[in-house]
Amino acid sequence: MERIFINQTIKYIGEKVKVCGWVNSRRDHGKIIFIDLRDRSGLVQIVFTEELKSEIYKLSDKLRPEWVIEVVGTVEKRPEKMKNPKIETGGIEIKAEDLKIHSEAKTLPFSVESDGYEINEEKRLKYRYLDLRRQRLQKNLKIRQEVIYFMRTYLKEKDFVEVETPILTKSTPEGARDFLVPARLQPGKFYALPQSPQQYKQLLMVAGLERYFQIARCLRDEDARADRQAEHTQLDIEMSFVEQDDILNLTESLYIDICKKLFPEKRISEIPFPRMTYKEAMAKYKSDKPDLRKNKKDENELAFCFIIDFPMFEWHEGEKRWGASHHPFTKPKTDDTEKIKKTPEKIISYQHDFVLNGWEVGGGSIRTTDLNVLTAVFEVLGHSPKETKEQFKNYFEAFQYGVPPHGGIAPGIDRFLAIVLGEPNIREVISFPKTGDNRGLMMDVPSKIPEDQLKELHIKIIRDK
Ligand code: AMO
Repeated sequence: MERIFINQTIKYIGEKVKVCGWVNSRRDHGKIIFIDLRDRSGLVQIVFTEELKSEIYKLSDKLRPEWVIEVVGTVEKRPEKMKNPKIETGGIEIKAEDLKIHSEAKTLPFSVESDGYEINEEKRLKYRYLDLRRQRLQKNLKIRQEVIYFMRTYLKEKDFVEVETPILTKSTPEGARDFLVPARLQPGKFYALPQSPQQYKQLLMVAGLERYFQIARCLRDEDARADRQAEHTQLDIEMSFVEQDDILNLTESLYIDICKKLFPEKRISEIPFPRMTYKEAMAKYKSDKPDLRKNKKDENELAFCFIIDFPMFEWHEGEKRWGASHHPFTKPKTDDTEKIKKTPEKIISYQHDFVLNGWEVGGGSIRTTDLNVLTAVFEVLGHSPKETKEQFKNYFEAFQYGVPPHGGIAPGIDRFLAIVLGEPNIREVISFPKTGDNRGLMMDVPSKIPEDQLKELHIKIIRDK
């Protein structure tokens, strides 16, 4: 007999079914034992009575919370006054005829019935596989899939090609530290994990793909916060022969459609999404990610906007040097290289940020394809033309073989989900997130590695005294 999901049982009144799952709770009424059985789809009440074969009844008496079982029984309507309107299967129960215990369970370190916010987070992350049993997190993961699936279909229909790019790669300046991987076959050399697929997606434009996207995992060695993880996921997009408005229009219509189809209870404050310059935003809201909600207490309000015309460079006072506001591949609004080098503070760029309810939920730009401009930008950032050519050899060479004008954007998927799901932290929408200091408590990472493995990688650890 094939197992059915619990939420399907209501269609089988009077019939025999097989259901599987975890014992959610157990009530013993003397001659009758009630089990609430839970699977991915919901809860159902199972009834074991003394009329059963005695060994089955005895077995049912042993059941405890979180044991994994399989029950065969007949679906029956509950008497009117026993109905439970709170659950989908509240009008029925399953009269057990057979029971199989797949596995017993120790007492869980915490309850999985509540929404879990009250539980110590380190404990939740250590036992994430139990934490994920709670309904709230299962719902978050399912909605995450819905959103990603929607994005994929939407872009594919608009002739975008999804391309996977390497994880073992070279440093791309996105403003964070790289995670490095030692190369066993090239002693002393390292791969960098991608902070984003930035250079690859631009090289795919040189390759003639014209419209690329990827659900891309990006890795940045920075301190985690409510809206930041060492690993995050972007909807990475790049397009050729476009202007900034084309990129913003595509992003806008994608997000309007996502909200309409998947979150119909949400209200978008303003369509089209307001577009304002960095200068306007700073003057009016003192922020480059203003929260434009009309009523900040309304959990269903979504206030999207785009910020454009950012300064190309920002001054890092601590290190007394210029940095790129977005990244160095962003196109300045002038191609006068002398002006770029002499007055970096005055240079405006084609950067665009995508903002929702005061969070930066995406960033992108039109890219520089003029290598003289790119060299000047890197000079402002403190790299000689020779260094730049060496570091971005691939880019410099590729751009000499016919490069289309191009640009893109990368909305952060974790942040968007946290906002629409009303979660205070992106950890709540990620299956196995890390702690604030980037430890993975469930797998116990990072971890030490054996001496012989280090030796093979030509690595010596200098231990702190
Ligand atoms: P940027 O660095 O602005 O741009 O990143 C794009 C978006 O990704 C999200 N994001 C993060 N989310 C969670 N944790 C993090 N550590 C994290 N870092 C970034 C944000 C952000 O807006 N390659 C460029 C895109 C481009 O130019 O097309 C890039 O990565 O929502």
